[in-house]
Amino acid sequence: MSDNKVQIFDTTLRDGEQVPGCKLDTNQKLIIAERLDLLGVDVIEAGFPISSPGDFISVEEISKLVKNATVCGLTRAVKKDIEVAAQALRYAVKPRIHTGIGTSDSHILHKFKSNREEILKRAYDAVAYAKTFVEDVEFYAEDAGRTDNEYLARVCEAAIKAGATVLNIPDTTGYCLPEEYGAKIKYLKENVKGIERAILSCHCHNDLGLATANSIAGVVNGARQIECTINGIGERAGNTSLEEVVMILRQHPTLGLATSINSRLLYDTSRMVSEKMGMPVQPNKAIVGSNAFAHSSGIHQDGVIKNRETYEIMDPEEVGVTESAIVLTARSGRAALAYRSKKVGYELTKLQLDDVYDVFLTFADKKKEIIDNDIHEIMKVVKIEAPVEA
Ligand code: KIV
Ligand code: ZN
Repeated sequence: MSDNKVQIFDTTLRDGEQVPGCKLDTNQKLIIAERLDLLGVDVIEAGFPISSPGDFISVEEISKLVKNATVCGLTRAVKKDIEVAAQALRYAVKPRIHTGIGTSDSHILHKFKSNREEILKRAYDAVAYAKTFVEDVEFYAEDAGRTDNEYLARVCEAAIKAGATVLNIPDTTGYCLPEEYGAKIKYLKENVKGIERAILSCHCHNDLGLATANSIAGVVNGARQIECTINGIGERAGNTSLEEVVMILRQHPTLGLATSINSRLLYDTSRMVSEKMGMPVQPNKAIVGSNAFAHSSGIHQDGVIKNRETYEIMDPEEVGVTESAIVLTARSGRAALAYRSKKVGYELTKLQLDDVYDVFLTFADKKKEIIDNDIHEIMKVVKIEAPVEA
């Protein structure tokens, strides 16, 4: 793997799917897994096989189907979980077991009623056991975001000794600031013995709206995998959004980092996941929201019509959106009205445009948005002939 390649680990079907209301059946998961493979993700986390017979079957079927990506199954640091995951993954071309345990004092004390040394041993044992089934073992230190760095480094060292190929450093509660998360990754890169044998992975939750910023801080500081979901779905406020990190790395070549994602499939994949999960995408969602490339204020519309780059930092076609939308509202100017009128067949002179604009404003004050049919109505009021059908 080249040094500037950031692996995309998609967990839509595991961390994303565990959200209330997002449940999918095996067939729906297979359709999404096939699409993720086509999109170019490096790893598909297909599920948590011990959690239910349905999840086991889904991981098994996805393992049979997926041809390019690594297929991964989640486990706790529990022997039975690992055995069941290995069984579910047995048909995968590239199987990975993702095992781990909570490492923050809060998890150690309240969840496990244990102590740091015991947890360290459980981490080592889990990776070593997973390693008896598959070569590729990823270790997660749950709540790493709130884990003391020195202790976290010791746990990572133990996981590498046991054979871990990837070290996942989750900000499980979405608590870290980007600088803090970046510094954590840097600290591990500089202080974990044997770190050159493993990839550091960012798994950030969005409780404070910082998941994307934290993941980017992570890769800037040496991590080479980002765990993310389509549309940023996931526990509570969600996970890092795949489309956001992919486009950030693409739009900022000075970072010197790249992914293998075919960005032109992003919009369509977003709609597919939203539709299958019954989880709408907020209109102002970065990259894939319905307003992400829509311009409604007169000043912006005038700029975009003259040159798209005045108000757009990426070409919508690069993410699979066919064109920027010029939305007509009471805030729109003459340039936008002329542009949209032309699209539906009316080539207006300057004088006509003045008349049409006055009527347009009275319509627009009564409606949220002026659609093509309204334009025809406006033209009737000012007695401009309907366009001749082609
Ligand atoms: O957020 C988290 O810590 C997780 C782990 C199970 C990887 O999802
Ligand atoms: Zn998570």
